[in-house]
Formats: sequence, C-alpha cells, structure tokens
Amino acid sequence: MHFLSDLLSDLSLGVIKNYLSMNLENEKLYLNGNRIYLRTLTEQDATQRYASWLNDAEVNSFLATKSATVNELQEYIAKKNQQFDAILCGIFLKDNDLSIGTVKFEPIDLDSRRARIAVMIGDKTFWGQGFAGEAMELLMKYGFDKLRLTEIDLGVIDKNEAAIRTYHKLGFQEIKRDLKVVEYDGILYDQVWMEFKCPLVV
Ligand SMILES: CC(C)(COP(=O)(O)OP(=O)(O)OC[C@H]1O[C@@H](n2cnc3c(N)ncnc32)[C@H](O)[C@@H]1OP(=O)(O)O)[C@@H](O)C(=O)NCCC(=O)NCCS
Repeated sequence: MHFLSDLLSDLSLGVIKNYLSMNLENEKLYLNGNRIYLRTLTEQDATQRYASWLNDAEVNSFLATKSATVNELQEYIAKKNQQFDAILCGIFLKDNDLSIGTVKFEPIDLDSRRARIAVMIGDKTFWGQGFAGEAMELLMKYGFDKLRLTEIDLGVIDKNEAAIRTYHKLGFQEIKRDLKVVEYDGILYDQVWMEFKCPLVV
C-alpha cells in the first residue's frame, strides 16, 4: 500500500514538474482575488513606475535591491520567466488594472515541496490596506492547490514591523532567527525566518 501511494505520489509530482516547466515556459499565470489579481509579468511590465518603486528609499529600505532601471527590470523579468524554480507575478487592482506591486515564489523546490515567498507593495498609497496579505494568500493557495507545496517560508529583517505584522496575520510563524546579521542604518538586526504549513497536511 505504502509503495503504491509513494509511486502515485512520485508520478503526480512528475506531472506537476512537467506542468510547472510548461507553465513557466509557455503559459501565463492569472490568479483572481477579491480586490486584486495576480498575473505573470512580461517584459512590457518593466515600466518607469515599477522602477520608481525600487528606487524609492522608503520602499526599498528593507529590500536587497536598492535601485533599478527599466532595462534591468526587463532582464530580471525575462530571467524569472525562464527559471523553473521561480514564479514572479505583478499585483494589479481589479478596478482599473493599476499595478501596485509584485509577489513571487523563489526558489520553488518541488522535491521538498517548499517555496520561499516575497512581496512588495511598491505604490505606497496602497500600504496599510491588506493588499500584501491578499496577494500572498492568492499565490500561496496556488502553491498548495496546484503545485502541491506543503510549506512556504520567508525571511524578514526584524526591523520591518509592518511586514512581520502582515505575515503573522496570515498565519506565518517564526521558526528561526539569525542574530544581528542584517545592517540597517548602521545597526545590526536579526534575520527572522517564518514558515506557513499547508493546513491540509497532517
Ligand atoms: C511590508 C508590506 C509588504 C506590508 O504590506 P501592506 O499591504 O501595507 O500590509 P498590511 O496592509 O497588512 O499592513 C501592515 C500591518 O502592519 C502595521 N504597520 C504598518 N507600519 C507599521 C510599523 N512601522 N510598525 C508596526 N506595525 C506597522 C499596519 O498597521 C498593519 O497592521 P494592521 O492591519 O493590524 O493595522 C509593504 O509595506 C511593502 O511592500 N513594503 C516594502 C517592501 C517590503 O518591505 N517587503 C517585505 C520584505 S520582507
């Protein structure tokens, strides 16, 4: 019995991997939410607006990327769309198709059924309205339902209180902490690792 279920599980994992490869190479992801939708970015989405988010000291203060040009973003999007272990989506308002940020899985490890998630609401006028959580929920649901992930994790500097609040609200729990490893304004802060387990996995 165990052998059969393992075999079936391996087979379906193979199907998922093929699907994911096809998906990343040929298809565009579209995930519909209440106020927003997510879709795979294309090189046309590398706009001055997107670049301005990453060049904004408030938006990028806790990000590794501190600047970007439209050309760099084009290359970045093209690269992510070719990677088998990444899904990069834009976050768009349903009302008017305005782009307000990005959310991604990277890396995705289908063998261990884990993925790492990262989110940015680039347009600051949309901060504090729960958009990051809604975007993450959409991508996480896709990860659990379609990619059959069982765990999603993320890293965050413990100074980024808004992000940590968002992740707690979603149900992420701290699993590990690297002490005093991230510098911000000349002070060393902890890197906090958080995890969300698929509620259906016992
Ligand atoms: C961090 C970020 C993702 C939050 O997105 P968001 O859509 O504004 O999140 P929410 O609407 O859930 O609001 C964040 C929560 O933190 C709270 N908050 C905001 N600033 C805060 C601060 N300085 N200290 C403590 N809590 C804060 C808000 O009140 C809110 O909590 P509430 O719903 O209980 O009132 C967004 O600000 C962002 O993209 N920042 C730039 C990129 C970034 O830092 N990404 C995360 C990298 S790990």
